[in-house]
Amino acid sequence: MPRLLISAGPTYEPIDAVRFIGNRSSGKLGSSLADRADELGWDVRLLLGPNAIEPSRKGVDVFRFTSCADLEAALAQHLAWADCLVMAAAVADYRPKACETDLCGKRRRVAGEMSLELESTPDLLKGCAEKARPDQLLVGFALEPAKELMESARRKLERKGIDLIVANPLETMDSDTIEAWLVGNADRGFDMVNTTEGAISKARFASWILKQLEPLVDQKLMVRASDA
Ligand code: CTP
Repeated sequence: MPRLLISAGPTYEPIDAVRFIGNRSSGKLGSSLADRADELGWDVRLLLGPNAIEPSRKGVDVFRFTSCADLEAALAQHLAWADCLVMAAAVADYRPKACETDLCGKRRRVAGEMSLELESTPDLLKGCAEKARPDQLLVGFALEPAKELMESARRKLERKGIDLIVANPLETMDSDTIEAWLVGNADRGFDMVNTTEGAISKARFASWILKQLEPLVDQKLMVRASDA
């Protein structure tokens, strides 16, 4: 059975011992994807962010992360195991430059304004694409304003060097439904665009996307068999 590695949920980037910069990702989508894949007999590992929904099925192996750095370490540990990586996590693009560790590990109120210095986080998916084997299928997510959805999805496919991207409008975050376009990277042999044709529940989306991915994972596994 194919091995699926999924990341889901937000990242929390520490400002000090008690505060963080986070986002509104619920992890619902990644977790229903994990449940459905397990139901279909896939071998599933789910890297799950803080405050995100747990999958209901016992067969899903859950590994928790908090920050982008934790997720980076988890991916380094689990990527080689996977036949398919689906990066549904909403990873921060910036994080506070240095975690403040003053007396109580907590920033004190100061008079007047205060500013936080932020640094870029690494693009984890791009890093995975640089390390992955040719027989591994790499899938990203892109949350985009509706009017630039397709153009931006194509740019991200190329920039990250991945096989497929699931593009969906901004309203998907924190919602129970999703309308999605699965866009393939023609340069990597996946010249395709498929759509859910309207918003569907995240549970139905899980079945839809796995049905799309199954033959593509099989195609990759054939690459492995022919190289062996
Ligand atoms: N992603 C990642 N590492 C990051 C940021 C995002 O691996 N530091 C992954 C997400 O999990 C998702 C994909 O990249 O699968 C797209 O994320 P998105 O935030 O939409 O793209 P960005 O590269 O951040 O581009 P932009 O901010 O221009 O939209």
